[in-house]
Amino acid sequence: MNKDLRTFLAEARQMGPEYFQSVSRPVDPVYEPCVIQQKLAARDDYPVIRFEKVDGSELPLVTNLFGKYELLGLALGVDPDRPKSEILDRFRERVAKPVPTKEVPRDEAPVKQVVIGKDEIDLGKFPIVKHAVKNSGKYIAIGCLVVKDPETGVLNAGVYRHEIKGRAELACMFNPAHHAGYIYRKYREMNKPMDAVLFIGHHPAAILGTLSKQPFDSDEYEMMGALMGEPLEVVPGETVDIPVPAWAEIAIEGFLDPAKETSDGPFSEYTGFYGPAKDPVGLMQVTGITMRRDAVYHDLDPSHREHNLAGALTFETALYNSVAKLVPSVTGVHLPPSGNCTFTAYIKIKKRVPGEGKSAGMAALAGDPNVKIAIVVDDEIDIYNDSDVLWAISTHVQADRDVTTIPFAMGAHLDPSAYGEVRTDKGPMQTKMIVDATRPATLPFADRIVPPKEAWERIRLEDYLDG
Ligand SMILES: Cc1cc2nc3c(=O)[nH]c(=O)nc-3n(C[C@H](O)[C@H](O)[C@H](O)COP(=O)(O)O)c2cc1C
Repeated sequence: MNKDLRTFLAEARQMGPEYFQSVSRPVDPVYEPCVIQQKLAARDDYPVIRFEKVDGSELPLVTNLFGKYELLGLALGVDPDRPKSEILDRFRERVAKPVPTKEVPRDEAPVKQVVIGKDEIDLGKFPIVKHAVKNSGKYIAIGCLVVKDPETGVLNAGVYRHEIKGRAELACMFNPAHHAGYIYRKYREMNKPMDAVLFIGHHPAAILGTLSKQPFDSDEYEMMGALMGEPLEVVPGETVDIPVPAWAEIAIEGFLDPAKETSDGPFSEYTGFYGPAKDPVGLMQVTGITMRRDAVYHDLDPSHREHNLAGALTFETALYNSVAKLVPSVTGVHLPPSGNCTFTAYIKIKKRVPGEGKSAGMAALAGDPNVKIAIVVDDEIDIYNDSDVLWAISTHVQADRDVTTIPFAMGAHLDPSAYGEVRTDKGPMQTKMIVDATRPATLPFADRIVPPKEAWERIRLEDYLDG
């Protein structure tokens, strides 16, 4: 038996209303689950939300599984009361040790409880959401696509957006730099269709495994096991030669024929802006669906906080490793949701050598091409608290000395302010910035006021406040 989506939902529910909310009143899959999630976010509330009834579908929908950093911790078994830095520590520990999969018989695989043959397929029966007004349609936003390298047989899993194109057809958008994009191009060159499994709903640690950045020849099912802390149980597919996670809620099987493609978009992107329409993108022709008897559909609100947080630990790991190589005194890195978990990085160091701050900033920019602003602070600053970081910038930085800019560097093309080789053109270039907000290493600096230690530890508010 594997951990699964249900195990996680039960855990989140037990943590109380800050972690889990349910909605029994029926909702329209056009915008409504997202707007409810966004209204909660507007009051700084990011629970998992379970919608019991979505118009037009029999399946409940859950969303916001990656809504806050503490939920990533819960997925990895880190108690939300522990320091947030332990979440990245746990992730780094686990991704270092892949865990081989375990094949289980069909009758031990809940994903086989319902088998839908080719003639009965109707994707319209799932509670698939239209997330944003200008999106081209309804998208499966957090489905994990599994494909097999035709040369090596190695499995690759990743989250790819899928627009519903018909009862048994899905658009599938590969960024050309992502591994499924490479594998799809191989099939195209061989003039062969590519088999695929799109699974929806599993333990969030398993999903984080599909989002981890691994070498091209490594099996991402092993990374799902690594992050769950147990072997991923799999079972053979019905219509494709690809194993299916046995404890997934839903598995959609099919193939992508490079001779028959489609288009998708505009789409609500991770930047908080619409991304342009894409043409061509892959077209998945569905050959079968299996699912659990009372399957739960997992959605995610793209372009909002959970979209960015889902990938944050992977990118923070790359950032940490890059900075640690050059500046071993690094004590933490964070990609805050306020900076899309992408464009702005906080790095803290125990500075002892003049210049370490700038070096840490350079390493951060080199460690992740999407980072545009690297802010380096001293060890006592709380990098999980934007206000503390802003305080450090406000009180430590003099711009002519501490801010460095690097124009015309490669970056994220979806950054709406990015530019091309001609500055007025659109393109993937950005002006990078290092803000070194660390104190001098060898010169005296003003004393920060902190509470008296003995009184801070002794005084308990409940012993003093009348209310
Ligand atoms: C919510 C979400 C949606 C994503 N959608 C896409 C997508 O549509 N296309 C894409 O190429 N990458 C997308 N990504 C990024 C990939 O899933 C991610 O880079 C993954 O590591 C790719 O794995 P691979 O390179 O092993 O295939 C998305 C990530 C998240 C968190």
